[in-house]
Amino acid sequence: MSESYVFEELDCDEPTNEQTRFKRLQHVVSGQWKNILIGLLSQTLYATFLVLLTYFLTKGRVYETEIVTSSTFPALPSTSSKADSTSASTTTLLTPAPSNINTCVFGFTYINGKCWRLFTDPQTRENADSVCMSYGGSTLFSIRNEQENNAIFDFVSNSSVDYFWTGLICKGNTISSCIWDKESGSADGYDNFSDDYPDVAIGECVYFITTGSEAGKWKSGSCNPTMSFICELPPTIQDNNCENNYNNHCYLRYDLSYTVAQSQKFCRSICGNLVSITSANENRYVQSIYIGGGYITLGAVVPNVNIIYWMDGSPATYNNIQHYTNGTCLFLNLAWDSTDHWYTVDCAEESWFLCKRSTGANYIC
Ligand SMILES: *[C@@H]1O[C@H](CO)[C@@H](O)[C@H](O)[C@H]1NC(C)=O
Ligand SMILES: *[C@@H]1O[C@H](CO)[C@@H](O)[C@H](O)[C@H]1NC(C)=O
Ligand SMILES: *[C@@H]1O[C@H](CO)[C@@H](O)[C@H](O)[C@H]1NC(C)=O
Repeated sequence: MSESYVFEELDCDEPTNEQTRFKRLQHVVSGQWKNILIGLLSQTLYATFLVLLTYFLTKGRVYETEIVTSSTFPALPSTSSKADSTSASTTTLLTPAPSNINTCVFGFTYINGKCWRLFTDPQTRENADSVCMSYGGSTLFSIRNEQENNAIFDFVSNSSVDYFWTGLICKGNTISSCIWDKESGSADGYDNFSDDYPDVAIGECVYFITTGSEAGKWKSGSCNPTMSFICELPPTIQDNNCENNYNNHCYLRYDLSYTVAQSQKFCRSICGNLVSITSANENRYVQSIYIGGGYITLGAVVPNVNIIYWMDGSPATYNNIQHYTNGTCLFLNLAWDSTDHWYTVDCAEESWFLCKRSTGANYIC
């Protein structure tokens, strides 16, 4: 549709003035040929530079992955298992992602780049957080600016809710002692506390007021009363073939006991990688896929406690290693709210695993 429109526009561009335009062009060329030549040359050089840069970056990356794979993982057993029979090199990305990038799952509503859902069944702060967790690992909502403050106010305006839990907790009487949910980050940049709040003497939990003279303001208080609450998820790209769709990625669960190398090879065969986790909220999401305890393999190589190489190339923006042994592979403890979330293991250990890949593309492997 848009293509034909462009062609039409080109065709209709003053067809009768062809000669005039040619003369004008001639004039420009004869007067400015030096500048035009220099311009063309620099454009060509620039393009060449970009092509070379891309080439070396890509090459460097492949090289890195090869080193990690060959030096760190134990060799695969030669008996061909299900994972071994499919070759990773035949994977093809067929079509680009569709345009529907702002989808909300679990019945959440898309507002201003976030997905929100109001729960009017009153809960204590702690139970409210657990309910959010059971809806795709969502968190109690956060507000980072005045626009979001107004948006959340509008969002609840049609319900008969007078106040509700926010995702903010204050450990002291200053704004910088207030932290938003597990994604952390303090409320330093923006807050709309009522006068004389936060007040940790009354309580640490922060709620939002929707009625009366203080509508739109926040107060802190005890975490024990029950009230309504709003859970928040990041929007994601729509993907009808993805059961676990979070933040533009699909998480594919395999309850098979494989070694780290075997499971990564399996994930490659379906155009993914062993799961990477780059934020506290993603960690929460991955945990929410499983109910009960146990552990799964993460797609990382950990030469020491401060260095994490994710197999899918994700940056190591989040480190939740609580227990370091002399193994260099990484497991996630699935117990909800356990303090022992990630721990290193020998890479020959076997475990269930999750594969992770981008949502919204049609994969053929
Ligand atoms: C609130 O209700 C009114 C009237 O039914 C509707 O027009 C408006 O869109 C609703 N607002 C929200 C935020 O749902
Ligand atoms: C704080 O809340 C009030 C009441 O809703 C609102 O009018 C005001 O814009 C908010 N202030 C900021 C800085 O967000
Ligand atoms: C470290 O490795 C050695 C030898 O493989 C093993 O005996 C020992 O138990 C390991 N230590 C820990 C803490 O796992």
